[in-house]
Amino acid sequence: MTTNQPINDVMNARHSVRTFDGVTTIKHAEMQALLKTAFLAPSALNLQPIRALVIESPMIRQQLATATGNISQLTTASAVVLFVNDRENLAEKKPFLPAQQTGVKEHLDIAALDCGLVAMQFMLAAKDHGYDTNPMTGFDHAAFSQILNLDTARYEPLLLVAIGKAVTAGKMAKHKAIKTLIDFQ
Ligand SMILES: Cc1cc2nc3c(=O)[nH]c(=O)nc-3n(C[C@H](O)[C@H](O)[C@H](O)COP(=O)(O)O)c2cc1C
Repeated sequence: MTTNQPINDVMNARHSVRTFDGVTTIKHAEMQALLKTAFLAPSALNLQPIRALVIESPMIRQQLATATGNISQLTTASAVVLFVNDRENLAEKKPFLPAQQTGVKEHLDIAALDCGLVAMQFMLAAKDHGYDTNPMTGFDHAAFSQILNLDTARYEPLLLVAIGKAVTAGKMAKHKAIKTLIDFQ
């Protein structure tokens, strides 16, 4: 359920959390709602090449934990969401079906930008629903693809986001002074 806080409050309250309560489950309808909001993000040429694999299974997450330094996020979150670039970007009824390949297109570097925008919206939507998150690039992409049976020619792992209920509230990270980051012309 959404907290309906003003967007600015949600942005100020989002902090990375690395240890979750390990017991909260997120219903598929709620996860779908979060991801639906996330996928409203803009994408270059509106190509929408990003796909999300929601990994709930504790057994699979335990396996994945061996391929990342981010063990507590993998094992205590309600779920981890792997955002990937679908290099083929076909219009299919369902993603991640095996052997759907029809000829791999060029890798689009721009997909990483699209992914960041989707992930950011996901993290803010999650915060608005009372969850905390942690974005992660610190994982072995090849090992993840193998454990998750991903077609590596087609699906390129980009970002992993843990989501769950924090054990202790996240803290505001240290931020550079705004005057050192911006200028006007
Ligand atoms: C692209 C990206 C990759 C990140 N990878 C990791 C990671 O592998 N492990 C981790 O604990 N945090 C990771 N983080 C989280 C950052 O450490 C965190 O966002 C930063 O310290 C600022 O804190 P905040 O998210 O609380 O604002 C990543 C963040 C981004 C944006």
